[in-house]
Amino acid sequence: MSKIFYVTTPIYYPNGIPHVGTAYTTIAADILARWHKFRQGRSFFLTGTDEHGQKVEKAAKSRNLPIQEHVNEMVQNFKKAWEKLNIQYDDFIRTTENRHTQVAVKIFKTLLDKGEIYKGEYEGWYCVSCETFWIESQVVEKKCPNSECGRVVEWVKAEEYFFKLSNYQKKLLEYYDSHPNFVQPTVRFNEVKSLVTRGLLDICVSRKGLEWGIPVPGDPERSIYVWIDALTNYISAIGYDPEQSASSELFRNLWPADVHLVGKDILRFHAVIWPAILMALNLPLPQTLYVHGWLTMSGSKISKSRGGYRDLMELLEIYGPDPLRYFLMRETPFGQDLDFSEEGIIRRLNTDLANDLGNLAHRVLSMIHRYFNGEIPAPETLEPLDLKLKEEANNLPETIEKFLSSLQFREALMSINDLIVLGNKYVDETAPWKLKKEGKEKRLGTVLYLMADLCRMTALALSPFLPAAASNLWRQLNLEGDVHLQPFSEFSSGKLVSGRKIGEPSPLFQKIAEKKDASSKEEISNV
Ligand code: MSP
Repeated sequence: MSKIFYVTTPIYYPNGIPHVGTAYTTIAADILARWHKFRQGRSFFLTGTDEHGQKVEKAAKSRNLPIQEHVNEMVQNFKKAWEKLNIQYDDFIRTTENRHTQVAVKIFKTLLDKGEIYKGEYEGWYCVSCETFWIESQVVEKKCPNSECGRVVEWVKAEEYFFKLSNYQKKLLEYYDSHPNFVQPTVRFNEVKSLVTRGLLDICVSRKGLEWGIPVPGDPERSIYVWIDALTNYISAIGYDPEQSASSELFRNLWPADVHLVGKDILRFHAVIWPAILMALNLPLPQTLYVHGWLTMSGSKISKSRGGYRDLMELLEIYGPDPLRYFLMRETPFGQDLDFSEEGIIRRLNTDLANDLGNLAHRVLSMIHRYFNGEIPAPETLEPLDLKLKEEANNLPETIEKFLSSLQFREALMSINDLIVLGNKYVDETAPWKLKKEGKEKRLGTVLYLMADLCRMTALALSPFLPAAASNLWRQLNLEGDVHLQPFSEFSSGKLVSGRKIGEPSPLFQKIAEKKDASSKEEISNV
C-alpha cells in the first residue's frame, strides 16, 4: 500500500476565537487533504489547539475564567468555525488531552535519558515574544534578531532544562543540502540556512513556576516548555510512542508527514528545532515544510491582538464558506502576503464564481430543461471544437496535480477557471439556441451533452476547493452519490450517462453589489 498523504496545520493558541488568518492555513490544508483523498482514496489531515503556556493562561485570566473552562470554550469556537468553513479534518489534537501529555512526557524523558536534554544554567539574551535565547553576537542594540520580531530582548539567568540544539548545526546543514525541497519557498529555506550557519544555541525546554503546563518528569516544579510540548503534537496525535515498537499502525502509515503548513512566524521552530528533535528521536523528518505568507490589513499582519477586521463567523455569515475559500486561495501566490479585503471577496464572487461558473452551470442546465425536457441527451459525432474541449477537460486532473504538488493553489484555481471560461465560449460559439431554430437536434444534443459533462468535470475539479458549490452542482446535475466520494477514475470526460433526468437549476452564487462598506451587502441579481 502506498503511503497515506499526511498534512498538518500548526496547532492554534486558543487565546481567542479563530480569525481569518488562522482560517487561511486551515483551508489550504483542507484542500490538500481533500485532493489527495480524491486521488488516492485516503489522506490524513491533522489540526488542533496548543493549549498550554502563558498566552493562554493570560487570556483565561482576562476573562475571569478557570483556564480549562476557557480553553474548552475556545476549542468549541474553533470546531464550529471549521465546520462552517467545511473543513474536513481527520483528527483534532488538544495538547491538554492525555493522549498528548503522556507522549510529550515520554519524549522528554527519552531525550533526558539519552543526554539530549540536560539541566543547566544559562545567562544571556532572551526574547519573550519568540521564547528564544540568542547568541550575544546575533543581538544588535538589544533587538531580537528574528526579522519578523525585532522586539527588545532581556538579559536573563536561569536554571532550566536545555535541549542540545547546538549539536545539530552540522547535521541540519547536511540534511538541508541533501533535501533541496525540505523548506519551500526557496527564499524561506535560504533564511533558515543562513540562520543555522550563523550558529545555534541549546534551547530551554522547561519553565519554573509556569502554572499551566505539563510537569517535567521527576521535577514537578517545572513544566515542559511550549515548543517541545507543541511540536510533538504532530506525532502524539497519530500514536507515536518513543518505544518505537509500541507506536501505532497509524503512525507507521503516516509518518513522516508529507506537508507541515506553517506561517512564516514559526518557520524557525519547524525548520530547525523540530528536525533536531526528530533526529534526536531517530525519526525521519517531514517531507516538506511549506511556509506561507500572512494575511494583512493595510500592511499589518492580521492577529487577535491587533483586531480591526470582521469576525470570521460574521464573514462566513455574509459571504458563505466558498467565496471566502476561493478568495483566499485565488488572490495571491501562497508563499506571499495577501492583503485581505472584503471588496476583494466580492469582486471574485461576482466575476469568477457568479459570472463564469454560475453562469455556465445555469445556462447549460436551463437549456437541457428547455430543449430536452430535462433529460441528458446522447452525444453524436464530435467536431474539432468538441474534441478540443474534451482534451482541455481531460488535461485538468494532471494540471491540478502539478500545481497542488507544489502548493500553487492559485494556479490550480486559475486553470479550472480557464476551463470554465472556455466552456462559456464554447456555448457562445456553438449557439445551441440557433441549432434548435435550425432543427439540428443531433448537434444540439451533442453540444449540450458535452456541456453537461463539462459541468460534471468542473464539480469534481472544484470539490476540494469549493466543497459546498461542488455538492450543489452535483445535485443539480442529479448525479449519483456524493461528489466528495467519487473515485478518481470518474474525473475524465465522457463519463456522464445520457438519458438521466437532471435536477432543477438554481443559482450557485448570488452576486453582491460592490460597495466600499460591505457590511450593508446588497444582492444584485440571481445568476
Ligand atoms: N501555537 C503556535 C504554533 C505551534 S505549531 C506546533 C502558534 N499559534 S498561533 O495561533 O499563534 O498561530 C499559528 C498559525 O496561524 C501561524 O503560523 C499561521 O499559520 C496562522 N496565522 C495566524 N495569523 C495569521 C495571519 N494573519 N495570516 C496567515 N496566517 C496566520 O504560533
